[in-house]
Amino acid sequence: MSKKSRIKIRTLLQKAPVGEQVIVKGWVRTFRNNQFVALNDGSTINNLQVVVDYENTDEKILRKITTGACISAEGTVVESPGRGQSVEIKASTVEILGEADPEKYPLQPKRHSLEFLREIAHLRVRTNTFSAVYRIRHAMIFAVHKFFQEKGFLNIHTPIITGSDAEGAGEMFRVTTLDPVNPPLTESGEVDYKEDFFEKETNLTVSGQLEVETACLALSDVYTFGPTFRAENSNTSRHLAEFWMIEPEVAFCDLDELMGLAEEFVKYLVAYALENCADDLAFLEKRLAEEEKHKPQQERSPMGLVERLNFVRENEFVRLTYTEAIEILRRSKPNQKKKFQYLIEGWGADLQSEHERFLVEKHFKKPVILFNYPKDIKAFYMRQNEDGKTVAAMDVLFPGIGEIIGGSQREERFDNLQARVKELEIPEKDLWWYLELRKFGTAPPSGFGLGFERMIQFICGMGNIRDVIPFPRTPGNAEF
Ligand code: 4AD
Ligand code: MG
Repeated sequence: MSKKSRIKIRTLLQKAPVGEQVIVKGWVRTFRNNQFVALNDGSTINNLQVVVDYENTDEKILRKITTGACISAEGTVVESPGRGQSVEIKASTVEILGEADPEKYPLQPKRHSLEFLREIAHLRVRTNTFSAVYRIRHAMIFAVHKFFQEKGFLNIHTPIITGSDAEGAGEMFRVTTLDPVNPPLTESGEVDYKEDFFEKETNLTVSGQLEVETACLALSDVYTFGPTFRAENSNTSRHLAEFWMIEPEVAFCDLDELMGLAEEFVKYLVAYALENCADDLAFLEKRLAEEEKHKPQQERSPMGLVERLNFVRENEFVRLTYTEAIEILRRSKPNQKKKFQYLIEGWGADLQSEHERFLVEKHFKKPVILFNYPKDIKAFYMRQNEDGKTVAAMDVLFPGIGEIIGGSQREERFDNLQARVKELEIPEKDLWWYLELRKFGTAPPSGFGLGFERMIQFICGMGNIRDVIPFPRTPGNAEF
């Protein structure tokens, strides 16, 4: 007889091969009455019931079947008399692969706060909540590539170490091999980066956009999907110092078409989750409903998680100019009654998350795409509009999140771009190659960046961005 191989619990529950002998392996969630193991191997949110033959199993083994232990069980698939599961395993043998001392194992079967679980990020994936989030995150990575593959976009790897600050916000992590205590100095007493590894100043990238634009102006439709780093000291539920971004760049595309692509893209991701992650979403919906019970009435969402996802999938996003948005905000109740932390006095103000969420959650009750922002609050590469005041930028705003996408049509005219670079005092020596793209076969490209974790937050209904990435990096926090 050939050696039996392990079957995954997901496959087993789907196929329900009653009568067959199988081997299952996984981690014990609970063990009841010295007999019933709830086993999970991460292939699905659903546990498999393994019924141990306790009369014929060594007492020593029975004692080691505890929450968190890793076991292997061999037995027959039988129809389950219990509710909520089609089949279970009548185990003839159980082997302990890894014990988990019940005195010490921190994930005993009870409710744990998300804050506590962050402190044990190496174990939290063994909970239902985090395994569901990890599986959905995986499904969304696949859906991102599928979407662009179907549209004929090429995936481009852009560098993680760069010499340029794409967003011009100066919030970068330096990459250096110089001695921090005794760095080489120039004659004028500054750190001499000519002596550094790359013989210049380098940082971790804040965006792959500038580099992916080079590919765009040869391959037409391209995208990056990589890690990005921002040393901004924002301790909010929507900011990470290390996050993943998807940045498509389209060669022959104006702002209007770009907004269409952004809307189609996020709706595709939402639809993919609804169609492929139903079990995990059902669990996360219950989790969210439970969490919301403890919130004051006015902070509760009027919709459940799945209803919210369907709502986004089925409704057209509102498109609104920045100027129109300012008018709405200026006249809004929270502004009149001075309830906003940052009051909107007039045109030119940078929008804060409270304003974005007011527009989306209170005023329109729908995702909103804002466009044509004042040039002074946006990056240097955005295309200048004829009015001399605004640029062809757009942000997609989502309920509970605020900005989920930021993008623009790019300034393709060399003179305009160079003038803006000078005006903002950006060192041209770092950007010569980017400027050169506007000299040789320039085209009007457009592109945007989707914050992957913010998207996962929305899809999973998780309030804090630290809970949708395996190992969050935030100010003062790089454990694990
Ligand atoms: O608006 P941002 O800064 O745009 C860019 O980086 C452009 N280069 C994109 C492009 O046009 N190719 O960032 C894009 C998105 C934001 O809308 C937000 O969703 C996410 O990235 N994001 C963050 N997510 C988590 N933590 C942070 N600190 C983030 N900063 C931005
Ligand atoms: Mg932005």
